[in-house]
Amino acid sequence: MEQILNLMNQEAVKAFEAAGYDGSLGRVTLSNRPDLCEYQCNGAMAGAKKYKKAPIMIANEVAAQLQKSQVFEEVNAVNPGFINLRLKREFLTGYLQRMQADENLSVEKAADPKTIILDYGGANVAKPLHVGHLRSAIIGESLKRMGRFMGHKVIGDVHLGDWGLQMGLIITELRRRQPDLPYFQEDFQGEYPQEAPFTISDLEEIYPAASKRSKEDEAYRDEALEATAGLQQGKPGYRALWNHIMRVSVADLKKNYGKLNVDFDLWKGESDAQPYIPDMVRFLKEEGYAHEDQGALVVDVKEESDTKEIPPCIILKSDGASLYATTDLATIVERRKLYDPDEILYLTDKRQEMHFIQVFRVAKKAGIVKESTKLTHLGFGTMNGKDGKPFKTREGGVMRLENLIRDIEEEMFRKIMDNHEIDPEEARATAKIVGLSAIKYGDLSNQASKDYIFDIDRFTSFEGNTGPYILYTIVRIKSILNKYRSGGNTVEGCVIGLAANESEKALMLELSKFNEMMENAFEEIAPHKICSYIYDLANSFNRFYHETKILSEENTEQQAAWIALLELTRRVLETCIDVLGFSAPERM
Ligand code: ARG
Repeated sequence: MEQILNLMNQEAVKAFEAAGYDGSLGRVTLSNRPDLCEYQCNGAMAGAKKYKKAPIMIANEVAAQLQKSQVFEEVNAVNPGFINLRLKREFLTGYLQRMQADENLSVEKAADPKTIILDYGGANVAKPLHVGHLRSAIIGESLKRMGRFMGHKVIGDVHLGDWGLQMGLIITELRRRQPDLPYFQEDFQGEYPQEAPFTISDLEEIYPAASKRSKEDEAYRDEALEATAGLQQGKPGYRALWNHIMRVSVADLKKNYGKLNVDFDLWKGESDAQPYIPDMVRFLKEEGYAHEDQGALVVDVKEESDTKEIPPCIILKSDGASLYATTDLATIVERRKLYDPDEILYLTDKRQEMHFIQVFRVAKKAGIVKESTKLTHLGFGTMNGKDGKPFKTREGGVMRLENLIRDIEEEMFRKIMDNHEIDPEEARATAKIVGLSAIKYGDLSNQASKDYIFDIDRFTSFEGNTGPYILYTIVRIKSILNKYRSGGNTVEGCVIGLAANESEKALMLELSKFNEMMENAFEEIAPHKICSYIYDLANSFNRFYHETKILSEENTEQQAAWIALLELTRRVLETCIDVLGFSAPERM
């Protein structure tokens, strides 16, 4: 469906032209004086210079034309030359009725759907997920859902860190603890065991122990580097161990991402890019893109227009080892071959910005991607504690994601139990759902690139700009709809009517902005716009609700019209939270 603002614009263009002015002056915007009007047009101000006429004169002439429109019910030219507008109630109702009948709620699917690879999550195998990975997962999941809602083909890839030194460290530590395992016997001929010689809890203890030791003990570190190289060169025992580490870790990661309602289409990782590296390096050398610099192989990527120093991208270290950039470039080769994407979008901490500038430049310069392929990095800010420093546990350690989720659920459970009589078991289940909304909304309601303060008290509050407040509003609507149904009525046949009062019209106006908001939020990769929209919508709904006796209304036609409006509000809110990656309970 055409955006309602465009329909207004078309009216304004016609009015300017009919009054003898340039139609492009007819641009309508949301009012910045909601006490005076709903929308406004400032075209007469802009036209004054061009036509050497007082703006109010132009405004008066255009307003006279607009009076005839079927779109506006109030048109006022006011000094010095603004045109204040209010929508005709019939027009607004007609628009919402069409929205009601549209399964996509007025949002138009992309005419030319794109294949977009979304690289998010980015967990490192065998290291516990920590809050730093939280943002990538939450924002990425919502972008994936947004893209799909807009009709694109979005492929989510977790892109695991599964090939680095952490693997060599774990192998080294295992060898020290259990030297008799077959994986470490040079001449082993048989089949390696099916069962991993460790559990996920073992791994979670082994990695930090190994990492700590490697920092204190140089011989140990060398051993780990050698194990890493051995693995990368395909040593069978190490390969078999690596497979165990992967299986055990990935199962655990899936469980944790599952708790966050985050799921990936592809569980690929850095290791999948390895087969593409040799050919890619050869190509970069032969075509003259890469050259040697102090033993390393580098590609120059600085450009004349740079305002800051962009260092060369290192492809191979002097010992021939590949790096993060090498893997990312080879992954682009793989993605092009397997999926031929129109766009690849990466989500990481913004501190990785330079890395992506370098990688993207090499990819474009050397033609590793097509000219038309869009490469985008969305760098997000840090999640801080109330002290303004990166979020930590009370003891000052790195907060594990699992524990963070547990703390929020606990707090939510306490609040729900405090609120009213409820079966504790049901309260537990509800606390999970509402807790997730608290975490996700708390994150997504901030512009991604900004740092934000993770404030459990505020995020779990039922009041204010929070996930629980949005869910509370949805639950309130569902409860009215259910009561209506239990009186023997059906909701589905109800049709939206004319606004009966000011707060109803305000709610209707808010609903009519849905497609514009969604299209914008996707365009600008900005989930926070969805959050601020549903916050406004929830506020408008609650104002209407407090001013209107819906269930006791005696005029059944009027009542049905309100029920239809509630149902549309519910659908819009639930569609938005689904796109954000959480859901609402039936009761809370
Ligand atoms: N594993 C990386 C980290 O923890 C993030 C990976 C992001 N994706 C990418 N293609 N580089 O920092």
